[in-house]
Amino acid sequence: MARILTGIQSSGRQHLGNILGGIRPAIELAEKPGNDSFLFIADLHSLTTIKSPEVRKDNILATAAAWLAFGLDTDKTVFYRQSDIPEVTELTWILSCFTPYPMLANAHSFKDKANNLSDVNAGLFTYPVLMACDILLYDSNIVPVGKDQKQHIEMTRDIGKTFNHHYGEEIFVIPEAFINERVQTVPGIDGRKMSKSYNNFIDIFLPEKELKKQVYSIVTDSAALEDPKDPDENLIYNIFSLIAPESDTLAMRKNLEAGGYGYGHAKKELLDLILAKYLEERKKFNFYMENPEEVESELKKGALKAKEVAVSVLDKAKRATGFRS
Ligand code: ADP
Ligand code: TRP
Repeated sequence: MARILTGIQSSGRQHLGNILGGIRPAIELAEKPGNDSFLFIADLHSLTTIKSPEVRKDNILATAAAWLAFGLDTDKTVFYRQSDIPEVTELTWILSCFTPYPMLANAHSFKDKANNLSDVNAGLFTYPVLMACDILLYDSNIVPVGKDQKQHIEMTRDIGKTFNHHYGEEIFVIPEAFINERVQTVPGIDGRKMSKSYNNFIDIFLPEKELKKQVYSIVTDSAALEDPKDPDENLIYNIFSLIAPESDTLAMRKNLEAGGYGYGHAKKELLDLILAKYLEERKKFNFYMENPEEVESELKKGALKAKEVAVSVLDKAKRATGFRS
């Protein structure tokens, strides 16, 4: 049995790119027989950049609501909030003392952030140690992540191995990264990769009017209504084809190529598709947003299970280091 574990940043709402590239594949992986799955909201990490308590709470709720709306089964997956298990911060101190300073100083993500953010705090610097502890504390075997997180998993392996080697015992399970190269990159409304950081996303959970505004902001060229258009060069078509049934994709393709079919038509089709396809998910999302106690109770249920593993692994690390006999 392989334990799969991954953390979700709670830095904002989950957009269409997060859903197709993160949520859907992770839920499929969790449902494969023989897998034991842990999934948590990395709220402690969010403190490196977000200081407002209201924003943090709203992000946690909206992130959890999106996962639950897309069918995450909390009886099969241990779904919890990182900060509910304070053992992770205790382990972070212990493993900080086994992390070479140059390893952190060379981290790509730290260098990127240090160049782009005004608040370069020590939490940003030690971010990879907390992430290593998220993984090592739960005996994880496989960690599905995007390419940008690969170096963090390598650091996790190095830190775990250094500790095991130092004490001559297999205290930590050494994990492997799982990078799904097949996941397509969903383009944003400006044509770049859809991302919270570019503010170019489609949030399928928005009320219809606001969603319409986002869909109608998709960038197009100035071709006239009657002109034939190349679907492959067309952003609306590209996004549509990622979620539409094949026959509808083909129909839009033909319409664009034939001419007499404008971008307004295509945008309306995309909006209608999103509303129809995600009708149930939108309802469930709103239910969870209006009933935060339901989300809280799911997260608390997950925390109870996560805690059991965390306490036992931390205990082994404390015995090895002589903090406990
Ligand atoms: P963002 O760029 O919005 O901050 P994250 O880096 O938090 O997104 O990514 C969270 C998850 O969503 C990851 O699994 C990532 O691979 C996936 N993801 C994010 N943006 C896209 C996209 N445009 N297309 C496909 N998957 C994406
Ligand atoms: N750093 C990850 C990200 O930016 C989120 C994360 C935190 C994570 N802890 C983790 C991912 C542990 C996998 C395992 O996406």
